[in-house]
Amino acid sequence: MNALEIPWANALDDLPLITPTRPEWFPAAVSDVDALLVDHAHCEQKAASMALSLIGRYPDDAEGVRAMLALVYEELRHFREVLTFIERRGGRLTPPNPDRYVRLLRDWSFRHKGGVGTRADAYLACAFVEARSCERFRILAAGFLAGEAGSLASDEAGELGGFYLQLADAERRHWTLFRDLALATGETAVVERRLQEMAEAESAIVAELPLAPRMH
Ligand SMILES: [Fe+2]
Ligand SMILES: [Fe+2]
Repeated sequence: MNALEIPWANALDDLPLITPTRPEWFPAAVSDVDALLVDHAHCEQKAASMALSLIGRYPDDAEGVRAMLALVYEELRHFREVLTFIERRGGRLTPPNPDRYVRLLRDWSFRHKGGVGTRADAYLACAFVEARSCERFRILAAGFLAGEAGSLASDEAGELGGFYLQLADAERRHWTLFRDLALATGETAVVERRLQEMAEAESAIVAELPLAPRMH
C-alpha cells in the first residue's frame, strides 16, 4: 500500500470542520507512538461508552437506539484492535488523559444554547468528535504510508497506515450518522444553523489545544 491509494484530496473533504489541523500536529503526535496509541485506545472505549450512555438517555429514539447499539460494537472492535497494536509493541494501557477537547465542546454547547434541544446538541457534539478524529486519522494514515514517522520500522508504519486509512473511513461514516440523528430531531434549517455555530466553536477550541502525542 502506498500514499497514492489515499482516497481523499484534502483531509477536510466531506467534513464539517472549518480549520485544518496545524501541520506541526503530525510530528508531535508520532513523537511518542506508544502514548498516541494509548490515547487513541481510550478514545475508542470512550466512544463506545458514549454510545451506550446515549441509549440510556434517549431510549424512546428507536432509530438512535439501533444506531448506537451497532456503534457500541464497532467502537469496541476498534478498541480491541488498538489494544493489539499496543501489546505487540510491548506496551499496555495506562490511565486516560483528561479529554479537554470533548469537555470544551460540551461546555460550549451548555453555555451557548442554540434552540435545538439537548438531544440534538449531544448528537452534534459527537458528530464533531468523529469528524475531527476522521481528519486526524487521515493525517496519520498519509504520514505513516509516506514513511514520515521516522521512529517506526517500515512494515509497522505501513500496517499502521493501513489501519488508520480504514478507521478514517469509519469516522467519516460516524460523523454523518450523528449529523443525521441530529437533523431528525427537529427543523432542518435550525439544526443546520446550529451545526455551523458549533463548527466555529470547534475551530476555536482546536486552535488552543497544545500539540502532543494525543488524538485531540
Ligand atoms: Fe472508532
Ligand atoms: Fe467513531
